[in-house]
Amino acid sequence: MPFLDLRKQYAPLKAAILAEIEQVADSQNLVLGPKTEAFEKAIAAYCDVPHAIGMSSGTDAELALLMALDIGPGDAVVTTPYTFFATAGCIARVGARPVFADIEPGTFNISPDALAATLRKTPRVKAIIPVHLFGQCAAMDEILQLGKEFGVPVLEDAAQALGARHSLGAAGCIGDSGWFSFYPTKNLGAFGDAGMTVCRDDALARKIRALRNHGMEQRYHHQWIGGNFRIDAIQAAILHVKLPLLDEWSTGRRERADFYRKAIERAGLSEAVTLPREPAWPSESGCRHIYNQFVIRVSRRDALRAHLQANGIGTEIYYPIPLHLQECFRDLGHREGDFPEAERAARESLALPIFPELAEEQQRYVVETIASFFR
Ligand SMILES: Cc1ncc(COP(=O)(O)O)c(C=O)c1O
Repeated sequence: MPFLDLRKQYAPLKAAILAEIEQVADSQNLVLGPKTEAFEKAIAAYCDVPHAIGMSSGTDAELALLMALDIGPGDAVVTTPYTFFATAGCIARVGARPVFADIEPGTFNISPDALAATLRKTPRVKAIIPVHLFGQCAAMDEILQLGKEFGVPVLEDAAQALGARHSLGAAGCIGDSGWFSFYPTKNLGAFGDAGMTVCRDDALARKIRALRNHGMEQRYHHQWIGGNFRIDAIQAAILHVKLPLLDEWSTGRRERADFYRKAIERAGLSEAVTLPREPAWPSESGCRHIYNQFVIRVSRRDALRAHLQANGIGTEIYYPIPLHLQECFRDLGHREGDFPEAERAARESLALPIFPELAEEQQRYVVETIASFFR
């Protein structure tokens, strides 16, 4: 059983997607253009946010935003050490210093208490970047409060969380600005790389639009130093075909998460397996985890993973090395023990197969195979 099987999603959409690709090919309008504008409008409407700007990737969406906010050398940006590399990589690429605050063990997201303590002791903080990891919103109410208290913008890394909701709004659109990734493994996946930055502020949106095109609004007049962060028309067109199905897919993922929870409990595995925690805030508040990943925690993780692999079940580890211990960040001067919760998550977390087309008997087999490991 593969960890993710994208062919099952593609099969029923094949004709519609190929028709869109053909239209783009016939038009030869290949970069940005009307397909991109239509998709940007659709995302803005879906998220109820005034500005959605198509970018070449989630990474470039973040990079352009940090550039637009003039974050650079001498500045600090506070984020989680337990995320995909890009979150902190972009901070370093603009010349700023990534400063980490540890996570909450239950949700894997940045801990508001740790964030508050970090903000208190860190000079020149220019932004806070919470990550809605695995498709679940971070504690945005407390994080926004801290942003206000310390006078810094909250920028949401919603790369894994398009369609997730918090009581305060749609993931990516709660703080000052945010971004999504459409990498193929995301809930809304392109046929290659693509991303989107979203924001409310007109001037910021205008600058990001210019920055994605080498900082020019008028052809060959460069007001800012930007980059080539443009989205391809083919990606925008394909994503636009898929977007209307996103909520249905998210529901399918939530149902599969629920199935795992119940089956793991029924199998008597509650002691051995720690399930991902849904938010501490009440569910009637409109919060929605969209399970880009279903991540359990176990103490003998690598042995369990090998056992599942030997029985034909693909799994993944997100993420084996927390960012403060990455070789490229050794200049930050961290050592093991600095962020114990992130380090423990890196040792214990295991992502099980989850996608809307995953069959019940496949899920049952996953849980039975986990049970056979602990017997
Ligand atoms: C949390 C997080 N941030 C940023 C990114 C970067 O997105 P992309 O791969 O589209 O550049 C990803 C993608 O995996 C991600 O998971």
